[in-house]
Amino acid sequence: MKVLVTGGAGYVGSHVAWALREAGHDVFIFDDLSEGHRPAAGGMPLVEGDLLSSEDLGRAFKRTGAEAVIHMAAKCLVEESVREPALYWRINVAGSLRLLAAMQRAGARLIVFSSSAATYGQPDREVIDEAAPKAPCNPYGTTKLVFEQALIDHAAAPVFTTAPAPAANDKAAAAATKPSAAKRAHGKAAGKGKDKDKAKARDGKGEPGESVDAAPSLLGPGRLGYVALRYFNAAGAHSSGKIGEDHPVETHLIPNLLRAALSGGARPLKIFGSDYPTPDGTAVRDYVHVEDLASAHVKALEYLARGGESASMNLGTGRGSSILEVLEAAKKVTGRDFPAERAPRRAGDPARLVASNALASERLGWRPERTLEDIIASAWKWHSEHPKGYAGK
Ligand code: UFG
Repeated sequence: MKVLVTGGAGYVGSHVAWALREAGHDVFIFDDLSEGHRPAAGGMPLVEGDLLSSEDLGRAFKRTGAEAVIHMAAKCLVEESVREPALYWRINVAGSLRLLAAMQRAGARLIVFSSSAATYGQPDREVIDEAAPKAPCNPYGTTKLVFEQALIDHAAAPVFTTAPAPAANDKAAAAATKPSAAKRAHGKAAGKGKDKDKAKARDGKGEPGESVDAAPSLLGPGRLGYVALRYFNAAGAHSSGKIGEDHPVETHLIPNLLRAALSGGARPLKIFGSDYPTPDGTAVRDYVHVEDLASAHVKALEYLARGGESASMNLGTGRGSSILEVLEAAKKVTGRDFPAERAPRRAGDPARLVASNALASERLGWRPERTLEDIIASAWKWHSEHPKGYAGK
């Protein structure tokens, strides 16, 4: 499948793009590089563009012939969203709506959207399933929820696209798309995809056993199909050691504690809040390995391509860890002792966020495979080999 990955040079985005390539898809990255990094694109075609520019988006679809979109370009810092809500509404809502409009014009009608546990706010339940009340407590969460609603509304329309006949699209796309290494791997991966073959036959779009190189385009009239994936705490780095987390301002627990370990005690970790109603008083989160997250996106896309019903799904492990537990695990994995100091709660932080992943398991056949120790070990490899992130190499 030809897939446009918005935000594909960012942290989660790059892992998703690499996983899609690995699965044999033709991947094109759309990123303004405001927070993404060119090397994270790993040589995949990169269309530099602004999510708010209909022209840039139109150009991206024309150049790539993308049949589906994984939409991860967004602003994603809770605290910043409280200070600058307009920025979040502009990029996360207005930008995302422009992307949908560009998809309509291009005839692309499958989208996997990166949503967030922040859509739930501060739930008062041990394990959160998708039916839990959605009550975001910051503009970041609100913008994610609003765009999920936009997807629901657009998916309810009998016809989403306004594109001309698919044949015209196929021709333009074929002319505009350069061959890539991923394309060569395409047939191989798809050969395994019995479900895909069956679905194509069911949809009247192909025959079982037909190779994906000859697969008809998914472009054209029809309903919008979406999967919104509500991430819990994305963490860790790629097993190759080549891509990992590198934000202009680092706010996340695991990179901060590994930097504290690397600093040899010069930069103690601050533990925000020790008076939460949790067993040890520190906040509990569901840390999910970024490569497990990435595999869920591949599965979600393939689910949509075989006609899977649109839905929002949690991506978490179902296991919560407190800050102190993460700290202990980090000391064990890195073999370093490093200081941490207690600090007041950070505004807007819920006490506990742990996912039920039953829906993603049932619909996508997705199960996270990596443990907290795997997360820390992979992040440790990345941070110790790239202490300055992408700038260092
Ligand atoms: N924390 C510290 N010290 C640090 C950094 C974080 O104690 O240096 C604490 C936080 O206060 C929080 C926990 O560690 O209690 C986890 O914090 P992260 O910043 O790693 O992650 P969050 O749970 O705050 O944020 C994640 C995503 C957001 C999303 C949010 C949903 O990164 O994008 O979950 O609530 F919005």
